[in-house]
Amino acid sequence: VDAAGRRVFELRAQSGRSDLGHGGQTATWGYNGTHLGPTLRARRGEQVRVNITNGLGEDTTVHWHGMHLPARMDGGPHQPIRPGSTFSPEWRIDQPASTLWYHPHPHERTEKQVYRGLAGLFLVDDPATDVAALPHEYGVDDVPVVVQDKAFTDDGQLAEASPLGSDIGILGDSLLVNGTPKPYLPVTTDLVRLRVLNASTARSYNFAFSDGRPFTLIGTDGGLLDRPHQVDRLPLSPAERAEVLVAMRPGEQVVLRSVPPAPEGDFGVRRFQGGRDKFDVLQLRAAASLKPGPAVPAKLVDTPRLDPAEAAQTRTMTFTGRQINDRLMEHGRNDAVVTKGTTEVWTVRNGHGTPHSFHIHDVQFQVLSRTDGGPLPPHLSGWKDTIRLPPQQGYTVIMRFADYADPETPYMFHCHLLRHEDQGMMGQFIVV
Ligand code: C2O
Ligand code: CU
Ligand code: CU
Repeated sequence: VDAAGRRVFELRAQSGRSDLGHGGQTATWGYNGTHLGPTLRARRGEQVRVNITNGLGEDTTVHWHGMHLPARMDGGPHQPIRPGSTFSPEWRIDQPASTLWYHPHPHERTEKQVYRGLAGLFLVDDPATDVAALPHEYGVDDVPVVVQDKAFTDDGQLAEASPLGSDIGILGDSLLVNGTPKPYLPVTTDLVRLRVLNASTARSYNFAFSDGRPFTLIGTDGGLLDRPHQVDRLPLSPAERAEVLVAMRPGEQVVLRSVPPAPEGDFGVRRFQGGRDKFDVLQLRAAASLKPGPAVPAKLVDTPRLDPAEAAQTRTMTFTGRQINDRLMEHGRNDAVVTKGTTEVWTVRNGHGTPHSFHIHDVQFQVLSRTDGGPLPPHLSGWKDTIRLPPQQGYTVIMRFADYADPETPYMFHCHLLRHEDQGMMGQFIVV
């Protein structure tokens, strides 16, 4: 915290060599270190400033994924940081307690930069939208789980070509958690909170435990849910987050896995999109005796539901090919002009046989319905900023653009399969 009361972070994007299970010689990128970045953490109401220095040989940006902040600070493709220079965005944290993240967003190079290792978590603390009786000790019973898949060449370097048949970009066959190959977590309490981020560029996961045990979903992209939900599967597409609680017994071991989802859509196509792959993600190893954790509260937080009757505007965004509403991303074109202080309802649809996703900057949305009328699962019951759009499906979502008008600087919305984003599956909106 500086003399002006601001919480100041320093990030330096740089290249180096990391041990990702291939002898310590893998060329990678990271913030401050050589792979991934530090977990940043700030309280609601705090003014934060991040001094980001670009130590790479090409332009980068740092985008605050899920953060409500002015467009000029958002770190989209409009705020390039040239090699050797420093960008210092500053804003006031004003949103519920949540697990957000940061990653580069440069024009046409996002997939490569994230894949090489540029990503980190940003945790927002806010007692008013948190529950004291949840595990809270960072790294002990409240543990970040940043999941990424990597492919390696024979000489232990990151392979950056997409596999044959993949229309979604790089799919790796090795899994890392927090940059660690074959990871395990020593567990010392009988209730563990995992903050899971899918930081892969293309791969979707369907998490489950090796013994099929149920676990408790307590939070999604933008914060805690109204109440806990018992689940035995948790799907996460790239950029989505979830907070879960896992109950453990003394001395046991259990593995968090990713398993193929129940058959859905075209089997043959899905195989090339990684849909049939299985992974061990993280082993949990419980100590011989465990500290008793809190009981899972029956109620978490009270989230006001946004009301579609108050929507000032409705829009439809249809994702096909690499386009949204038949248009590729174009600098200087605003695809939506939103009035500050209003609520909007958007129908976001996949009109295509390839999976896509919808992510929007600046706001968190609530899901109102599925375009095919089907039920909404618990992981879509809370605040979201990213949602997977299965082939030929979509959702109607509602969001409020509370403040931060800026006619000059757009925010982005896009598919978060990063190859698609780089190929132009992105649009811009301004708030005026
Ligand atoms: Cu996570 Cu526009 O990005
Ligand atoms: Cu974002
Ligand atoms: Cu896409």
